[in-house]
Amino acid sequence: KFEKIWLTFGIGALVLFLVILGYGAFYLGTHPQSHGLTIDPQNVEAHEAFKPENLGLTKVDEDRYIVNVVASAFNYDFGVDKEGNAVKHIEIPKGATVLFQVVTPDVIHGFNIAGTNVNMMVEPGYISSMEVEMNQPGEYTLLCNEYCGIGHHMMYTTVEVY
Ligand code: CUA
Repeated sequence: KFEKIWLTFGIGALVLFLVILGYGAFYLGTHPQSHGLTIDPQNVEAHEAFKPENLGLTKVDEDRYIVNVVASAFNYDFGVDKEGNAVKHIEIPKGATVLFQVVTPDVIHGFNIAGTNVNMMVEPGYISSMEVEMNQPGEYTLLCNEYCGIGHHMMYTTVEVY
């Protein structure tokens, strides 16, 4: 009898453990990059990284770059070029370490550079960030993989590693 109780207890504990582990993995899997860094979604520009002049690709040193992006329905804002035109495409030299920092002022968006391990969920109120080494030359599609409204399927652009 006692054996049965202990066995039940043991299995119960194991199941509980697996549930906690699974939940933890799921939670971390869906929110891996926010690091708890918060931002006011009504005023992302108040944060230094997301001031219009700081958007897009910034070279930190020889092989380190930062890419600051405001994702909103249905566009990725990389700031403007010298002529004042919206930047629609970014080019990163092969082997560079790139820190992507992304926020949204409206709804949840995705930030997925297809074919790389850059895949973040961008939630209002949080700064999603991820640092990666871009080693494989090519033209990649950066796309939104979280349904965000009528123009969701139009929310993509290109990232080139050269
Ligand atoms: Cu943005 Cu889907």
